Amino acid sequence: MRHSSDKSSLQDDLEYVILTEEQIRKRIAEMAREIERDYAEKELVLVSILKGGVIFLADLTREISIPHSYDMVGASSYGSQMSSSGQVTITKDVTVLLKNKYVLLVEDIYDTGATLKVVKDLLEVHSPRSVEICALLWKEKKKRHHEVSIKYIGFKIPDVFVVGYGLDYNEKYRNLRCIGVLKKEIYQ
Ligand code: IMP
Ligand code: MG
Repeated sequence: MRHSSDKSSLQDDLEYVILTEEQIRKRIAEMAREIERDYAEKELVLVSILKGGVIFLADLTREISIPHSYDMVGASSYGSQMSSSGQVTITKDVTVLLKNKYVLLVEDIYDTGATLKVVKDLLEVHSPRSVEICALLWKEKKKRHHEVSIKYIGFKIPDVFVVGYGLDYNEKYRNLRCIGVLKKEIYQ
């Protein structure tokens, strides 16, 4: 039987917390103010990437006070559980009409850049006015598969594997409200 205390056992798997729920909430509010200012009077569509980006999307869309719509694309990158191979497959396209709209791609993390590159290229096919990227996390890396330019960055973090707030390890930890680094014994 699972009990309500199980959530804290997820938290116990963390070596340390990088970003608290409160830090994330505050930063998203700041980003929303920038987005409202930049997209006032423009037809804005937020497009998030399944599955990691949806928690960020859910919080960001409710912080943005100007009218907008949102949609989701599906993308999966193959590789080991903790690093991307750079090969990305699109599993779901958008259904909202993007022609002449101002698209903002909402992603949990900019890591190797492979996913963002492929999804951005896919969205361009729909002839939007613009496609910009909003990433909650920006991993400091010496080398990426693709350099993409990110218009809104939530936080810069070191090149470590993190979980929580949509980010998973083996599909677990997405529901953690904070973002943290797993204890070594969890993945060794
Ligand atoms: P990419 O390497 O930039 O293509 O990132 C691909 C996907 O890998 C991201 O959308 C995340 O879902 C996942 N990812 C990258 N870094 C991490 C991490 O530190 N923790 C959990 N998932 C990650
Ligand atoms: Mg993942």
